[in-house]
Amino acid sequence: MKSESYNQQPNRIIQSENRPIHCFSTDVEDKNIDESVVDSFGEEWQKFSHFSNEEITKVGDMYFDIIDENIINKNTYGIDIGCGTGRWTKYLCDKIGFMEAVDPSQAIFVADKLLKDKENVRLSMASTDNLPFNDETFDFGMSIGVLHHIPNTEQALKDCVKKIKRRGYFYIYLYYNFEDKGIGFKLLFNLANMVRFLVSKLPKVFKKFTCDLIAIFVYMPIVLFGRLCRFLGLRKFAKKLPLSFYQNTSFNIIRNDSLDRFGTSLEQRFSRKDITNMMKNAGLGEIVISDSAPYWHAIGKKM
Ligand SMILES: C[S@@+](CC[C@H](N)C(=O)[O-])C[C@H]1O[C@@H](n2cnc3c(N)ncnc32)[C@H](O)[C@@H]1O
Repeated sequence: MKSESYNQQPNRIIQSENRPIHCFSTDVEDKNIDESVVDSFGEEWQKFSHFSNEEITKVGDMYFDIIDENIINKNTYGIDIGCGTGRWTKYLCDKIGFMEAVDPSQAIFVADKLLKDKENVRLSMASTDNLPFNDETFDFGMSIGVLHHIPNTEQALKDCVKKIKRRGYFYIYLYYNFEDKGIGFKLLFNLANMVRFLVSKLPKVFKKFTCDLIAIFVYMPIVLFGRLCRFLGLRKFAKKLPLSFYQNTSFNIIRNDSLDRFGTSLEQRFSRKDITNMMKNAGLGEIVISDSAPYWHAIGKKM
């Protein structure tokens, strides 16, 4: 399977280590991007550029539990919007026909390295508000942990879904707002949010250092307690603990996510109902929201 042509001329083409990267301006009329968030991710991903195949497979299996061969197969033309390091493109690219991996930040150069031997992937620098493809081009699209960092999440989702063919699928992972959790959880979240507000404003080096401390002294004790509960056979209880997703992941993922959560100035959160409504408004139906972590990840079919 081959890629389609772009629907506009790139502003520039950068020859990266393994392939040329076409760059498309975010300088559009209806800008829907937070440049400081994009810069911060560019830095973050250059620091967290290494993910082992085992790590990608283990965590990817959790993200993609709601995707089967009817959705992704060798005839599927896909797009990963806000691909970051390209780790989820890497997870899917042996199962898919061709994947366009798109990100507006410097992370795209990290993706070039991670995906160096993948021939069915093309990388482009672009954002949701200026995706350089015709409408209804793709059989499958995904945006993992991206749209909640964009000022108008609902509009960004609409812009992404526009690029999907009728009867194609779109997959998202958006932060949840703890709607089904008790008051303790919510208080903890509000406290974490205040910390995020302060930490995200720190100069780069201090920000990274503080997020590492949070990973070691906040995440790890809770995660280790959860792992102990699992070891003792208390799986159901362990699943209900905060940060239960990380009971199955490496410290590298925890450090990375700590920087992601506490180092990013713009973050929005959504309930299951909000996500269903936004997906419907974007033209998706047959919506499936996984009951498993990470919350919430969902897929819908373009009607
Ligand atoms: C938390 S990272 C997720 C990266 C990747 N999907 C993953 O899960 O590993 C969020 C990504 O969204 C990208 N991003 C931020 N604003 C964007 C926008 N307006 N359009 C597309 N991507 C954007 C960032 O550059 C960053 O790489």
